[in-house]
Amino acid sequence: MKNIKYYLEKAQKEQWAIGQFNFSDFTQMKAIVEAGEKMKSPLILGTSEGESKFFGLQEAVALRDVLRKKSGLPIFLNLDHGKSFEYLKEAIDAGYDMVHLDGSKLSLEENIKITKEVVKYARKKGVTVEGEVGRIGNDASRLYSEKFVIKEEDLTKPEDAFRFLKETKADLLAVSIGNFHGIEISGIDPNLKLDVLKEVREKIGDKFLVLHGGSGTPEEDITGAIKLGIVKININTELRLAFSGNLRRFLNSNKEEIAPYKFLVDSKDSVERLVERKINLFGSADKA
Ligand code: 13P
Repeated sequence: MKNIKYYLEKAQKEQWAIGQFNFSDFTQMKAIVEAGEKMKSPLILGTSEGESKFFGLQEAVALRDVLRKKSGLPIFLNLDHGKSFEYLKEAIDAGYDMVHLDGSKLSLEENIKITKEVVKYARKKGVTVEGEVGRIGNDASRLYSEKFVIKEEDLTKPEDAFRFLKETKADLLAVSIGNFHGIEISGIDPNLKLDVLKEVREKIGDKFLVLHGGSGTPEEDITGAIKLGIVKININTELRLAFSGNLRRFLNSNKEEIAPYKFLVDSKDSVERLVERKINLFGSADKA
């Protein structure tokens, strides 16, 4: 199997993006992989710290291996939004392919310091590192009833991104360009600031850029961002909503049903269909 950098380079050259789809239980994980299989798409499976603590780091690695073998797909496992060196080290030691250090709450100096430490450790194990500069809105992936307001000071500054990449040598960079984790209750998030993305791209050149908070982002913003160099897009809230919404609906109308393999079918199918749609939108079909 080719490594993640091979696919990121290919995506950059051909202007498409790899989806990172988050999960915290096996039904979701299986649904994501089955969608990837159908679409012949490379996949990144993501777990936040919370998701990975519920699922288990070693369990995630073992099941990635099983699903890789069974599907024949390039499937990569990413520890999403790790907050400490220690936890990312645990994920790396367990066998994750990629880790994301979220140092966005730190000063740029502190962020650079800890990301450098992670890069140094990850390199020895052949693991890819994603860093983050600027503050991506909202800490959690969920539904919001209030409007999201973009603060100018939270956007990624091109010169900070340049310095961060130069000093840390991180492989990927997550940017704050008006994106945020979660979806507004309307289902559509405000437009991305593609002009900010363009400025960052012009300053840092050919580096791999990541878009977090992909749920609810208008399709034209996604395709516009891919054209400007985004090669990885993270999706979580839409998957959670599809899964939980269908589970709730099914159990409410089938009060006697107690078999998980029956009451999880609609949830699993809805996750699968959603991932297929995202793969189409990101242009990663037939790229595995
Ligand atoms: P959404 O929940 O908005 O899709 O964001 C997911 C994400 O960026 C995970 O890192």
